[in-house]
Amino acid sequence: MDHHPLKPSSPVKLQWFVCALASFLGFLFFSYALLSANIRNSATLPSFQHLVSNHAAISPVAEVEYYYSSVVTNKEIRALAPVYNAAVVPLSSSVEGECDVFDGEWVYDEEAYPLYAARQCAFLSGQVNCRRNGRPDSDYQHWRWKPKGCELPRYGGTEMLERWRGKRVVIVGDSLNRNMWESLACILYSSMQHKSRAYVNAKSHEYKMFRAMDYDCTVEFYWSPFLVKLEQRKDHSKVLNLDELPDTAQRWIGADVMVFNSGHWWTHRGKMRAWDWYERRGRAAEMGEYEAFNRAFRTWARWVGQSVDTAHTRVFFRSISPEHKLENWCYNQTTPFTNETYKQYFPRTMISVVERNIQKMRNKVKYLNITHLSEYRKDAHTSVYTTRQGNLLTLDQQRQPNLYADCSHWCLPGLPDTWNVLLFASLMGTPSNVS
Ligand SMILES: *[C@@H]1O[C@H](CO)[C@@H](O)[C@H](O)[C@H]1NC(C)=O
Ligand SMILES: *[C@@H]1O[C@H](CO)[C@@H](O)[C@H](O)[C@H]1NC(C)=O
Ligand SMILES: *[C@@H]1O[C@H](CO)[C@@H](O)[C@H](O)[C@H]1NC(C)=O
Repeated sequence: MDHHPLKPSSPVKLQWFVCALASFLGFLFFSYALLSANIRNSATLPSFQHLVSNHAAISPVAEVEYYYSSVVTNKEIRALAPVYNAAVVPLSSSVEGECDVFDGEWVYDEEAYPLYAARQCAFLSGQVNCRRNGRPDSDYQHWRWKPKGCELPRYGGTEMLERWRGKRVVIVGDSLNRNMWESLACILYSSMQHKSRAYVNAKSHEYKMFRAMDYDCTVEFYWSPFLVKLEQRKDHSKVLNLDELPDTAQRWIGADVMVFNSGHWWTHRGKMRAWDWYERRGRAAEMGEYEAFNRAFRTWARWVGQSVDTAHTRVFFRSISPEHKLENWCYNQTTPFTNETYKQYFPRTMISVVERNIQKMRNKVKYLNITHLSEYRKDAHTSVYTTRQGNLLTLDQQRQPNLYADCSHWCLPGLPDTWNVLLFASLMGTPSNVS
């Protein structure tokens, strides 16, 4: 049973062509942007602004949004289990006396959350603006994450703007990291006193940028769901190059904070699958998706080791964002799980690939371990209060949740705001145990 039967609306080839063309134009335009403007120097903003408005003109790219279904056969999981399912020692509570901020519970708190109102965030997209899309309940906005043994300081946009003065934050990954970018941009924007001093480019699916000019603070999103390079050849074949990063990686370098994610797109099947074959060392390579993901992850890890100055740049990997389907379905859910008896659907093997690799990089990369805390939040998805190919669901579609409910992305304000608070808390240093 496929509960996400979304298919690309146009023929796949056409879509890839449009996508490739737009990427190419985008690349030309940004090369120019990088040559002619130093993003971090506000004196050059007018030309950057000019470029971004050009970009808007060329980028109403066909919706590049594929939904994922993470159907993996038991046979495949069994085949790799001995390799990847070895016990993983938790990373985050390893230091004596430090509190594991990712282990805790959700507390209903109307005072503290949400951090902003949707109407305070003019550029919040239709995809995640659930209340505007007709979601009747709002309790899902009021849950605060309470780590076991310590309190998370009440960080909001004001603290973040102050701390990120002169800084550049780069978020790279799939549409769930775009969800995270939207959240962060809204947290910052809503706490700015002079809204006219914000600059937002949110038109393209593949690149987004928020800038608080008075703080010289920039938060960007780069769409790159595999972390490695996906390219379309002249013969239209789509090749996933497991030993190379995408060209945009050059533009990530120099950021003060980087947040990556990957995972869901590797599990896509059938028409959702974005690649025709994998390539290693210039040759087609046959392997399962776990092994491919593992190799891609190692390529990315090498890149971090060689190209990122981790003394200057704080690198994070955000863990898998869970879906809620079948008996954990998100539709009509208005409260989080309060116990741990629910069933997990995302292949654990995939999570193990991430955690085993991350563990080898623990000196360089911090793991934002949000999977488990998000698993409680069956109430926080966009469900039927979302868009499809850019259009709001019609009432008729809303009445067919089995076909249309999105139990992958999250409403804003909502859960990803907590991911960002945890990101910020990790930068500020883990609170000590209070017990
Ligand atoms: C991530 O969190 C989960 C749940 O709290 C825990 O079981 C797992 O070991 C953690 N992973 C790492 C690498 O710390
Ligand atoms: C969803 O909730 C509405 C309103 O409470 C109710 O009328 C409807 O039957 C529910 N649908 C399902 C499938 O549970
Ligand atoms: C766990 O929570 C779910 C829904 O919140 C509930 O249906 C179930 O009975 C609970 N299980 C236990 C053992 O409390």
